[in-house]
Amino acid sequence: MPEEIESIMHELRKFKPGKEFRKKAHIKNFKQYQKLYNESIKNPEKFWAEIAREIDFFKKWKRVYCWDPKTLKCKWFDGAKLNVSYNCLDRHLKTRKNKLALIWQGEQEEDVKTYTYEELYKEVCRFANVLKKLGLKKGDRICMYLPMIPELAIAMLACTRIGVIHSIVFGGYSAKAVETRIKGCKAKILITSDGSLRKGKIIPVKESADIAVKKCKSIKKVIIVKRTNNNIQMKRGRDIWWHEEINKKGIKDECKPAMMDAEDPLFILYTSGTTGKPKGVLHTTAGYLVYVYITAKWIFDLKDEDAYWCTADIGWITGHSYIIYGPLANGATTIMFEGVPNYPDPARCWKIVEKFKVNIFYTAPTLIRALEKEGNKWTKKYDLSSLRLLGSVGEPINPEAWLWYHTHIGNKKCPIVDTWWQTETGGILITPLPGAMTLKPGSVLRPFPGVIPDILREDGTKASVNEGGYLVIKQPWPAMLRGIWGNKKRFRETYFKKFPGLYLTGDGAKIDKEGDFWIMGRLDDVVNVSGHRIGTMEVESAIVSHKSVAEAAIVPYPHAIKGQALYAFVSLNKGVKKTEKLKDGLRKHVAEEIGPIAKPDRIQFADALPKTRSGKIMRRILKAIAEGKEDLGNTSTLADPTVVEILKQKRQ
Ligand code: WTA
Repeated sequence: MPEEIESIMHELRKFKPGKEFRKKAHIKNFKQYQKLYNESIKNPEKFWAEIAREIDFFKKWKRVYCWDPKTLKCKWFDGAKLNVSYNCLDRHLKTRKNKLALIWQGEQEEDVKTYTYEELYKEVCRFANVLKKLGLKKGDRICMYLPMIPELAIAMLACTRIGVIHSIVFGGYSAKAVETRIKGCKAKILITSDGSLRKGKIIPVKESADIAVKKCKSIKKVIIVKRTNNNIQMKRGRDIWWHEEINKKGIKDECKPAMMDAEDPLFILYTSGTTGKPKGVLHTTAGYLVYVYITAKWIFDLKDEDAYWCTADIGWITGHSYIIYGPLANGATTIMFEGVPNYPDPARCWKIVEKFKVNIFYTAPTLIRALEKEGNKWTKKYDLSSLRLLGSVGEPINPEAWLWYHTHIGNKKCPIVDTWWQTETGGILITPLPGAMTLKPGSVLRPFPGVIPDILREDGTKASVNEGGYLVIKQPWPAMLRGIWGNKKRFRETYFKKFPGLYLTGDGAKIDKEGDFWIMGRLDDVVNVSGHRIGTMEVESAIVSHKSVAEAAIVPYPHAIKGQALYAFVSLNKGVKKTEKLKDGLRKHVAEEIGPIAKPDRIQFADALPKTRSGKIMRRILKAIAEGKEDLGNTSTLADPTVVEILKQKRQ
């Protein structure tokens, strides 16, 4: 176990939910949670069948679930027929037709659009009809490379309406990253925009899309949303405008939902892993929907009158599950924000909270830390009294940031749900239930009903109390990933090989003496930079592909705002000069290969990297150097121990 795991900070105070909150909560006390949890473990079939009754199925399932840890076949609600967009839209029309489903806040303050459930339903149907007219059929794939605009939500739901699988690429990724993802799933259509806005500037998204599509034979059409009105090149026969297509004569605002099988693929979402290439995580229909529905309801304690805002980007899993599918399946009002939290000033989020009287606010620790740094004058500018529940996701939240969030945003009255989960898990797995649990800053507390986590040692035995180990999940849950798109072998090797048949999360964790979980960060080569998941191998491959570079190693180091940041050790080819300009060049190169989020903060040129006698780079030692540690641990296996001293002296 890496040592930093032991040094996690402890805040010993505990925070109980208020009486008022508890009284109205879906899950009101710890006893009720325990009862639900015990039932879910004793009789999962019964438990999940009861939950699934809250979702509309066209045809009932034959079996609640089956799981074979040998073949890794996993099915939930097999035999059932349903449709995700139907559950997010149609079924609310009877009672919530005029209720707001989506509030969109553009980067400019006056740019607001709202959609009632009926309006959203019609838009989704229209776009689904456009897709049908373009020849898309059940099982086809579509890529989306869009900023946070309503069309993104509409396109997602339209895909699910006709059984098309979406693969969304985060708008901040590079053309190269888009290309790999299109090729990975052989998408027929790419949806993008003429541009996107960032701090008042126009980012030429379409240019990147053009570069990406050039080498993708599978793409038949590119649909472009007009967002920024800047001049773009339209390629004849390939590029079409969203607004023209959707307004064409004959495009109806009704579209019959496809009857999807429970295990039909719903979407693919690429995420970083331990090897160079990101992997396409596959989620399917019924299990995912049931799980995001119930987790959104219980964890965010969703009520019909709530305005709910999750600040994530829809390009990540948090946006999929807890901006779109979870809240809409619950008939909630979900808010989508196009801009960034510190533009035009660090009070932007609080202004939005006041403006829409947000009740539930879900964000990442990196945003909390960044806004905390700006001082409390910004939080005082707006009325935050509408808030009743706060959430955190993406990386461990340090107790200091937790307390600031609790005091200055939540006015000491809002419970904070620190939710642990992953792209692969589809929904939240370990979290407080806000009305039922006493909070401990820094702890994610307890497994959601139906989830059986454990902490194991290297040899597979159970870790004891407070002993850090590998976090595994012992039984499947409805939203578990069903595979890696196009790579069965990788699915087994990544998740089910180390401890055969158990789902390996890649995170380290421990359980304290009261039975509460503490997440301690990744144990593999994945780093969390500002809550974005980045594979160090992916960045290494990008740097090494630069013409001046011979070898590179990327390690994380602690960063006050980002949580973790990237530190690159780079060996250059013979004769290449070590200049600051080259460092900038390397950063730019990484931005082109992956995206600006993957740029290393620090770069150190090294004539040699520490290696074992068999030639393996010892990243553990590099990490200790990057962290500024004096003691680098055992260096006796190094081929040339002098290398380390030189690196230490030149630390950035
Ligand atoms: C980390 C994001 C600590 C963890 C939903 C996990 C967390 C990775 C938490 C998944 C949390 C997520 N506390 N760490 N509450 N939530 N993580 O796939 O390392 O982008 O493995 O999914 O984020 O990142 P991903």
